[in-house]
Amino acid sequence: MNDAAVRHYGYSRDEFLRMTIKEIRPPEAVSALEEFLEDFAPHRSSHAGLWQHQTKDGRLIDVEVYGQPITYEGRPALMVDALDVTERRGATRALEEVKERFVTFFRSSPVPMAITTLEERRFLDVNEKYEEFLGLPREAILDRTSTELGLLPDPRRRATIVSSVREQGFLSDLQTQLQVPNGKLRDVLATLQLIEVDGQECLLGAMIDVTDRMEAERIAESSRRQLRALSRRVLEVQERERARIARELHDQIGQALTAVKISLEAVRRGPVPAGLRAPVAESVHLVDRAIQQVRTLSFDLRPAMLDDLGLPAAVGAYAKRQAAKVGLELQLDVERIERSVPKEIETACFRVMQEAVTNAVRHAEAACLHITLQAVNGTLELVVRDDGRGFDPATLHGEERDADLGLVGMQERAQFVGGTVRIESRPNRGTEVRAYFPIGAGG
Ligand SMILES: Nc1ncnc2c1ncn2[C@@H]1O[C@H](COP(=O)(O)OP(=O)(O)OP(=O)(O)O)[C@@H](O)[C@H]1O
Ligand SMILES: [Mg+2]
Repeated sequence: MNDAAVRHYGYSRDEFLRMTIKEIRPPEAVSALEEFLEDFAPHRSSHAGLWQHQTKDGRLIDVEVYGQPITYEGRPALMVDALDVTERRGATRALEEVKERFVTFFRSSPVPMAITTLEERRFLDVNEKYEEFLGLPREAILDRTSTELGLLPDPRRRATIVSSVREQGFLSDLQTQLQVPNGKLRDVLATLQLIEVDGQECLLGAMIDVTDRMEAERIAESSRRQLRALSRRVLEVQERERARIARELHDQIGQALTAVKISLEAVRRGPVPAGLRAPVAESVHLVDRAIQQVRTLSFDLRPAMLDDLGLPAAVGAYAKRQAAKVGLELQLDVERIERSVPKEIETACFRVMQEAVTNAVRHAEAACLHITLQAVNGTLELVVRDDGRGFDPATLHGEERDADLGLVGMQERAQFVGGTVRIESRPNRGTEVRAYFPIGAGG
């Protein structure tokens, strides 16, 4: 024996020389060794396999043994190499344990899992959940390809998936569809991992069936869209109706009242019987008030100025009227807008301004109202700011508050024409409403 043997087994050279090879075995392995030696042909070098040896202090080691016949001091002998592979075997055992655990995990996983070859998607293994998902027993799945099973509604996607799995080693959150045999098309969310099975590139896939969730989302999305379309339609119709009523009021009723007033004035100037003087004067006064009311109503519905003189003039006129009503100090920074603004944006901007000003007048108890309107870099900007009591916008978003549609309506109107509204307000710090509308480059 060499020094390495002495070091490794713990026996001294002298001790070794008094021993047989049976004595470096664990006692229970001796009979196996005897059987082995019976068949052993010591005439050629050979690999004698993996054995367990025991050191002097009782430690078991795994060894790989090679024997080679030689002549030693004139006698036939066997030169034996024992390679200690305990550590290597330990690692193998650990790996086997991991494999075992993986298999348990795979089989009992609550989500469908499968192992397929990468290119062909030939099924090598599936778990119970996968069988359930496909509605087929494993015998009907294993050794078939996904094409043979008709699982892929769009086989062209397979190539892209294969190449990205190859590139990154895995794919997660892959949204795809699978055609379940004898069933519906299912939406699934899958994770694919590139693995090697017997030197072959394979895919380990796990997935969840999200068909019902997607369906619910689709329904929710479609009703959101319908609701949007409906409220847009309502706003459009309302706008058209308002314009029509404003015009009627102004052109028909306003004209009629003016005619009545002119006639009454004529009567008053003529020879009126003394008893009728007061009633005629009273009538002129009443007709005057009616004309004013019709004008105000018509103006609130839709100022003719918006169509005739444009947005800045209409904003100015409306704000002045409202501020004057409650004695608010008004600062107006309303620029002439050089470029043409689409009609629906003008209307939306005017309505936002109208709601913001009405709110300031109604709720703010402000001293001063500041309005800015300008076109900057293709954006029409409206700012309505008051220095009143303010409010906490966060408290308004509860669903039960369906009464206050003013602020919501502002946002909606702006959105329908591609704009946005931002409302900033804090208790006792006043309120600022900012609206932005796209009116194209060059503004
Ligand atoms: N400028 C403001 N200053 C103070 N509080 C305001 C201001 N604007 C809005 N608010 C508060 O926000 C609430 C919601 O405003 P919103 O315009 O949505 O509804 P409203 O004016 O009460 O009713 P309407 O639906 O007729 O507009 C108001 O009731 C008010 O309490
Ligand atoms: Mg309001």
